[in-house]
Amino acid sequence: MLFSSCPSIMSDTCHKSQMNDQYSYSTLVLDLGILKNNMALLFITTPSRSVEGWIKEVKKLNPSLDVRVFPQIGNPDDIRFVVSWYHQPGSLKQFKNLKCISSLGAGVEFILEDKNLPQVPIARVVDPSLVQSMKEYLIWAVLHHVRRMDEYSECEKKRSWPVAPLKVSRAGEICIGIMGLGQLGREVGKAFVQLGFKVCGWSQSKKNIQGIESFGKNDLVRFLEHSHVLICLLPLTQETENILNKKTFSKLPKGAYVINVARGKHIVEKDLIQAVSKGHLGGACLDVFRKEPLEKDHPFWKHPKIKVTPHISSITDPLSAAPQLLQNYKRALSDQPLLNLVDRKRGY
Ligand code: GLV
Repeated sequence: MLFSSCPSIMSDTCHKSQMNDQYSYSTLVLDLGILKNNMALLFITTPSRSVEGWIKEVKKLNPSLDVRVFPQIGNPDDIRFVVSWYHQPGSLKQFKNLKCISSLGAGVEFILEDKNLPQVPIARVVDPSLVQSMKEYLIWAVLHHVRRMDEYSECEKKRSWPVAPLKVSRAGEICIGIMGLGQLGREVGKAFVQLGFKVCGWSQSKKNIQGIESFGKNDLVRFLEHSHVLICLLPLTQETENILNKKTFSKLPKGAYVINVARGKHIVEKDLIQAVSKGHLGGACLDVFRKEPLEKDHPFWKHPKIKVTPHISSITDPLSAAPQLLQNYKRALSDQPLLNLVDRKRGY
């Protein structure tokens, strides 16, 4: 699973005998013969995303690579490829020879929001390890909620053995509604189908995925009415910003649970707090926030029915995704089409 994308990404460097061996894989050297002395790849990240692992993995793939880390950029004219995780808007326009900007993850809205973005292609990471870790997180979040684990933790804290087990619904009675049926959404959906849940999905156009009832753009209300657990996996665009609000929450069945692993700006926070506090929603599990890190005095921290995790649902794994970055570096330098190219107009 981890390297299912290896053949296409590494076709010119990956020896067939080594394809299945993840340990020898990382010792392969990606041929970047086109590199000249004055060509560098620059990482720009926030303090919460360390670049050490990335440098280690890209160097394993090509030890002679000139890798720089913002703000140590050296000569700005050397920078050909930027890997960004929330760069400062406007900070890329100094790179006159830039060929490509890649997100360090799946989301790219923080790149597209930059009004002074150089007109170069943008790529994002699509990686089996991102899918796997998102599945793990969401299975945990859903099962934790439907099996009422918070209540059992309270019992445990009080050393109290409940008189009878708490009532739980069977998986087959619960519909998991997934907003966004892209690479992540469809795989997450299939995982819940395998666990015996009903699954429905909402996306721009209806999709044909076995076991998943698909609703198109104009069918949002019907989709919401079905969803006992709502998972947001949408890209953040002008159309999807604030999509989870008072009106959409009111269409969910009473007691529904909301999980957001996409972006904080999908949710109108005060509407969520109100819907949960008034009891229309059963609770929420949030991994992403309008402002990260979440401010210390934010009401989400203290709300008994809102679970907060610090944007860890799915973090790009350097071991798995470094080959993809370097393959795109190579493609960008030789003006070949990028892997996982972003459509600037569509916003993802
Ligand atoms: C995570 O938030 C990502 O965009 O990869």
